[in-house]
Amino acid sequence: MPHLRPFVSAVVRPIPITTRAERMREMDLAGHNPFNLPADKVSIDLLSDSGTGAVSIDQQAWAQRADERYAGAESFYRYRDAVREIVPFEHVLPVHQGRAAERVLFGALLGEGAISLSNTHFDTTRANVELRGAEARDLPCPEAADLDSDFPFKGNIDVAEVERILSGPERERVGQILVTVTNNGFGGQPVSMANLEAVSEVARAHGVPLILDAARFAENAWLVTRREQGYQDWTPSEVARRAFEFADGAVASLKKDGLSPEGAFIAVRDGRVADRCEVDIIATEGFRTYGGLTGHTLEQLAVGLREVVDPNYLADRENEAAYLAARANQAGVDTVQPSGLHAIYLNAGRLLPHLSPSQFPGHALASALYREGGIRAAELGSLYLGSLDENNELVSPAPFELIRLALPRRVYDHSHLEYVGEVLADIAKDPGAVPGYRITHAPKVLRHFRCRAEPI
Ligand code: F0G
Repeated sequence: MPHLRPFVSAVVRPIPITTRAERMREMDLAGHNPFNLPADKVSIDLLSDSGTGAVSIDQQAWAQRADERYAGAESFYRYRDAVREIVPFEHVLPVHQGRAAERVLFGALLGEGAISLSNTHFDTTRANVELRGAEARDLPCPEAADLDSDFPFKGNIDVAEVERILSGPERERVGQILVTVTNNGFGGQPVSMANLEAVSEVARAHGVPLILDAARFAENAWLVTRREQGYQDWTPSEVARRAFEFADGAVASLKKDGLSPEGAFIAVRDGRVADRCEVDIIATEGFRTYGGLTGHTLEQLAVGLREVVDPNYLADRENEAAYLAARANQAGVDTVQPSGLHAIYLNAGRLLPHLSPSQFPGHALASALYREGGIRAAELGSLYLGSLDENNELVSPAPFELIRLALPRRVYDHSHLEYVGEVLADIAKDPGAVPGYRITHAPKVLRHFRCRAEPI
C-alpha cells in the first residue's frame, strides 16, 4: 500500500528565501557558527527536533481551555494521566524542559564522586552529571562503532561492561545507570527491549537504579516494533510502557515526543526520591502541579503524548527520515546506518577527505549547507567533542566527523527534503571546493554553542 501522510497543514509559516550573498554576509556576522544565525535568515532549519514541531488542531483547542490555577489545576491532572498511560510509575513531576528534569533527579541520585553509566549521555545530561561533581561514563555497545553496518540496535548499552564495573571496586560509586532512548548522542539509534531487560536485571541484582532518558520514547518504541523479533504485533504505546517497566525512574524532555514547544517530566517509583525532587522543584521550577509550565502547555502535552504514539504518525516519521537519507545517499553522501527517526547523520569526514579533523570537516559541511542552500544543521565531530589547546588547535579529535540533520515533527514535507538532497548533491559534486575552518574564539564551557571560526 502506498504511504499516505496522515495530516495536512492547517496554519502555515512563511520561510525566508535568501541569496547566496546574503548568506555569506550572515555567516560572517555569525562568526561562522550556525547557532549564532538569526532564524529568519535560515530557510530550512534542521538544527534541532526539540520544541520545533508543529502542534495539532486538538492541541490548540485543548490549550484554549487550560486551567491556570496555581495548585491542582485540571490541566495538571490531564497531563499526569497522559504520562501515566505510558509510564507506570506513581510519582510524576512536571518541569520546564529535559535538562531541568536531569538537574533535579541527579541531585537526588548522585553525590560528589559518583559515577553515572550510560549508553551515551546527551550533552546537557553529561553537564548535569558533572555539575554534581560526578563522572559521566559512556558505554555504547561495540556495534555502534561501525557507522555503516545495518545492526538494528546500535543504541544499546554494553551490558557486559556494566556488569564488569558493578562487580568490581567501583560498584559503591555507581549512582545510576541511564539509558538514552533513542541514543541521540550516537547516531539516533534505538535500544532493544532485550538490551533494556538485560541491563535492568544487572541493575536490580546490584541495587543500582535504572533510569531512562526517554526524550524519544515513542520513536524508540516504533523502531522496536519494526526491528525486534516478537514485537511486530505490539502497539507503540504497549512497547513504550514495557520499556518503562524495566526501569526505576525516567526523565523525558517532552519537546521531542511530547509534541510541544516546552515541557518535561520526572517519573519515579520510589517515594523518597520523589520527595527530594519535589522540594527542589518547588524551590526552583514551580509548585509540584505545574513545575514552571502553564496550563496551556500541560494541555498541549496531554494531547501530544497521545498523538505521538499513533502508528500512522510514526510510520510517516520513519518514511520521511528514510526519504531524506536516500536523497543524501543518492547525492553521494554517506549516512549513519540504519537511519533512525529524529535525524539523519551525515558522514562529513568521508565526504571531505581533503580536510583533516583539525580543519573541522563536520563544521565545514554544515557551513556549506547554509552557504549554498540556507539549510542549518549541527556539527557532531571534533568541534563538539574534540579537545583544543590554548591556541585553539585540535589536540584530540572526535572518533567521527558527523553532522546531524534533525527533523522537526510535522513541519517539513517531501519538497523541502528534496531541496536538501539537491543542495547536498551540489556540494558533493565538488567536495574539494569546501573550505576547512580555524577556530578563532573557543569558550571553555559549551564550546560548540558559543565559539567563532573562520574559513581557511
Ligand atoms: N536528553 C536527550 C536525549 C536530548 O536529546 C535532549 C535535548 C535532552 C535530554 C535535554 O532536553 O532540551 O528539553 O532540556 N536535545 C535537543 C537536541 C536539544 O537538539 O537534540 P531539553
